[in-house]
Amino acid sequence: MTHPLSRRHFLHAAGAGAASVWIPKPVKGYSAAEMRRQAPGGRLEAGISKWDLDTPCLCVDLDRLEGNLDRMQTTVTRNGIASRPHAKTHKCPAIARLQIATGSVGICTAKISEAEVMFEHGVEQILLTTVNVSPRKIRRAMYLRKWCDGFVQAVDTAANARELSDAAAEAGVVADVTVDVDPGGHRTGITPGAPALELAQLVDTLPGLRLRGMLCYDGGSQHVTGFAERRRRALANLEAAADTADRMKRSGLDTGIFSGGGTGTYNIDHETPGMTDVQVGSYVFMDAQYLVIGGEDDEEVYSDFAPALTVLTTVLNDQYEGRATTDAGAKANTINRPWPIVAGETGMSYTSGSDEFGTIRYEENASRTYRVGDKLELIVSHCDPVVNLYDQLYGVRGDRVDVVWPIAGRGMSI
Ligand SMILES: Cc1ncc(COP(=O)(O)O)c(C=O)c1O
Repeated sequence: MTHPLSRRHFLHAAGAGAASVWIPKPVKGYSAAEMRRQAPGGRLEAGISKWDLDTPCLCVDLDRLEGNLDRMQTTVTRNGIASRPHAKTHKCPAIARLQIATGSVGICTAKISEAEVMFEHGVEQILLTTVNVSPRKIRRAMYLRKWCDGFVQAVDTAANARELSDAAAEAGVVADVTVDVDPGGHRTGITPGAPALELAQLVDTLPGLRLRGMLCYDGGSQHVTGFAERRRRALANLEAAADTADRMKRSGLDTGIFSGGGTGTYNIDHETPGMTDVQVGSYVFMDAQYLVIGGEDDEEVYSDFAPALTVLTTVLNDQYEGRATTDAGAKANTINRPWPIVAGETGMSYTSGSDEFGTIRYEENASRTYRVGDKLELIVSHCDPVVNLYDQLYGVRGDRVDVVWPIAGRGMSI
């Protein structure tokens, strides 16, 4: 069924109340350091409006974030699987803890450094979805496993499995691993079928390792436009992995974990036989890249989850006809496409191609224009890399800043 709202209307509604407001001058422009001082335990006592934050800065609408968590958890539970959200999206331990508190079985991380940070901040169920191949990283992973019982490491070659087993023995642990299986994109993972089965059998016999199952992340299906085509692609691409899981099970191997999927396929992946959980990342924030793919009930806009993450920016120049310049360019937004969306407004576009400056261009029917000093919010292009540009995230309810969350995993790309 097509949702009666057009994309433009949805984006307008999605940002309703979040558009720029008249800012009394002088604006306070609280800096990041001042905001941290105001919120020693993370929670803000004083009532500070988000419009008083210095810009560019990163905000998350807490009501929308909570709605997204609820929508995800309700859906996967109804479908008989679990969520194991990917923390590479938010890099924020406070959000990881919220995800687990609201029903997720654990989190995923992309890098060993991200896993270490999450563990330091109290997260104990961590699936590292990327293989470690250098001796130093392998040792770090096994050292983390020594302290963190819930740490599971991906592996996709026999040589790497042997290295992990040796390092585990050196660290005095038996380390949990999952076999990473390639869905056909050849980015990571071992070929499904006999090669994956043989690797699983090897892992099962190595003294330093304990097989926990497999993972298969089909990134190529996540942003396919149109629900029916996305479903067709996702199910077809995971067929061989499902068959591999079945063969592993019939061989007496542990298939307790069969993790995969993402925000684009969260309501499809349960149809893949044996899949246990979805590694969803972007759903928690949403972004322009996901909004355009369409959903099951809404062909135009992927409206299952609400855009919660915004960059707050200030207008620096309004002197020229048809345009305005802001302080949020590529260094505040990245140069991912589609470009960010001005929240709550219609008839204007935004580009962030310049390093330091963003450009608003008005169309004839623009819902408003801006003056120097006005602030406005942008729905981000692609949430993961934008988050990685900021040290902290402001959690807001309405216009009021409620929490200041460190993005402790920022820059943890090692
Ligand atoms: C291995 C893996 N799992 C899960 C995800 C989460 O995907 P999404 O943000 O589309 O939910 C990603 C994202 O790239 C990924 O690389």
